[in-house]
Amino acid sequence: MDDREIRAAMHAAFTEQYGSDEGTVMFFAPGRVNLIGEHTDYNGGHVFPCALTRGTYALVRQREDRTIRYYSLNQKTSGFITKELDQITAYNADDQWTNYPNAAVYAFEKHGHHIKTGYDAVIAGNIPVGSGLSSSASLLVLTGSVLRAFNQLDDVTNQELALLARFAEQKYIGLNCGIMDQFAIAMGKKDHAIFLDTADLSYKYVPVVLDDASLIIMNTNKPRELQESKYNDRVQECTQALHDLQKVCNITSLGELSSVQFEELKDAITDETCRKRAKHAVYENERTLLAAEALQHGELEEFGKLMNASHVSLRDDYEVSGIELDTLAETAWTVPGVIGARMTGAGFGGCGVALVRNDAVETFLHTVQKAYVDTVGYEASFFRAEIADGPIVIDEAA
Ligand code: GLA
Repeated sequence: MDDREIRAAMHAAFTEQYGSDEGTVMFFAPGRVNLIGEHTDYNGGHVFPCALTRGTYALVRQREDRTIRYYSLNQKTSGFITKELDQITAYNADDQWTNYPNAAVYAFEKHGHHIKTGYDAVIAGNIPVGSGLSSSASLLVLTGSVLRAFNQLDDVTNQELALLARFAEQKYIGLNCGIMDQFAIAMGKKDHAIFLDTADLSYKYVPVVLDDASLIIMNTNKPRELQESKYNDRVQECTQALHDLQKVCNITSLGELSSVQFEELKDAITDETCRKRAKHAVYENERTLLAAEALQHGELEEFGKLMNASHVSLRDDYEVSGIELDTLAETAWTVPGVIGARMTGAGFGGCGVALVRNDAVETFLHTVQKAYVDTVGYEASFFRAEIADGPIVIDEAA
């Protein structure tokens, strides 16, 4: 569904669920795609994501009491979910998907931003849940921007929204994630990628000028499975590698090491798996620096090579790809006119991203889809990525 169709469906659902849609406000927060710099953000390295025109919408009306009511067009079977603000104390399986908006409330309260009243909300999104395009961070930042607007918390900046959303994800949901997704979403800028140093949150916007090429997102459509534990394992393995390295050098994160330094010191990491994970983190950080440079100078071929190398490293050293993502990326590499292709996001399914010359897009789609169906047994889906701003309030009168 496109933007207008989604919003029309949300108004209809709001009226049906809550009687009338009078006094509602429409909020939007984007999803994100990471161009390169994967699994570097919790290692103090660099990332290079951008916000997408696809994301999550909330049609909301403030209430006078402390009740929150939710209905999602994407989770219709969950029906209507109600919660009292004062009951939001910890993750609760019964709350299903509304644990995310509740987590945002929790983060605000924990940081002294008092939430005074509840609201009625209809939520809808056009990024598939679990697709690696950060539907969860999108929902967290979206809720944060609703809470900010309804509670006169104008001093909460977008950067702080990102930090609150990460806190929510880590402390309420239980994923030890980095800051990339929340930052990319809260700080998005149309037609720009964000070159972010996760060690100190310094960042630079780099224009994404692709001339005769497009960024295509490739969704594996792999059924979502619980990935949190595998993700947390990788975080733990990197922590272990860092711990070993700290016995021989003075660093606070893997992101501080160059690949040359890593090669000199790597034997200090006793466990072979942890050594491979650290190798990825260090080399991927270097690739991200080079890729941001390359894009800035319009060197798309160089950028594409770095994307491909990133995938190989995520496949072989970090071991977070899998048959679905490998089939997408590796088939894409064989198509003339494909500049680069890789998995994006946490991995284990989800999406890939390819940089493709416009005159090769048709062949690319056909070739990759065919190989995917032959290998995996069901279809992948594809769409052109358009790069958007961060969270907004939509002026529906316009
Ligand atoms: C998930 C996490 C991010 C990041 C990526 C991998 O999207 O939420 O913090 O670690 O995986 O790069």
